[in-house]
Amino acid sequence: MIITIDGPAGAGKSSVARELAARLGFRFLDTGAMYRTVALAVLRRQMDWHDMPAVVEVARAIRLDLDEQGVYLDGENVSDAIRATEVSEVVHFVADHPTVRELLVEQQRRIASAGNYVTEGRDQGTVAFPNADCKFYLTACPEERAERRWRELQARGDVISLEQVLRQQNERDHRDQSRTVGRLVAADDAWEVCTDGMTAEHVVHHLEQTVRERCKLGVASNACSSGSPGGASTSSSRE
Ligand code: DC
Repeated sequence: MIITIDGPAGAGKSSVARELAARLGFRFLDTGAMYRTVALAVLRRQMDWHDMPAVVEVARAIRLDLDEQGVYLDGENVSDAIRATEVSEVVHFVADHPTVRELLVEQQRRIASAGNYVTEGRDQGTVAFPNADCKFYLTACPEERAERRWRELQARGDVISLEQVLRQQNERDHRDQSRTVGRLVAADDAWEVCTDGMTAEHVVHHLEQTVRERCKLGVASNACSSGSPGGASTSSSRE
């Protein structure tokens, strides 16, 4: 079974997807980490970002593995290294390239064919897994997403203003929405969840309930008995 979670940066997809997978007993696939790992490999080789054939060669040549502990580049755990600002600044070069996307989508399908997965990214419900059993599209207003991200960066000790975070986020949104292949868009059959004003726990609970009802998975032993959480705004063409 495959559950996809797509949405813009800062919508809280990663933590929600990871926790949802844990509650369902599924594995979690962070596809953004895959693009980041290719970008890190290119950065380490100090290559020219405009030499795209060479960048594609790197994407083909590296060994990229993922497990519950993180993501590995040629056997090295690079889970922290891929979160560096230098990687975030260049990852769009690899995410924008159709051949790199093809390679990574192929790998995502291979990985997910081995079990039950919650996959998270931008194109999971549209390109990678159009036949997924349950698709979600998580959103939140730009200001709320930027504030969440800003708080994370503050906690990490990064000095950056909220305005700067919002500006960078707007640029990323624009890039994610306008790439020619795998652009950020909700699948027609995705459940859209606006997470404004919701805690991560609230969102996970809402998604878990939806999956259990829609996919007839049954009720979790620790499920809340009060039904659907208030404040969750969910819409889908399925409704
Ligand atoms: O979610 P993230 O910030 O870790 O993603 C890193 C980059 O990869 C970002 O530029 C969006 C892109 N991405 C993508 O194009 N398709 C995906 N399925 C996942 C991420």
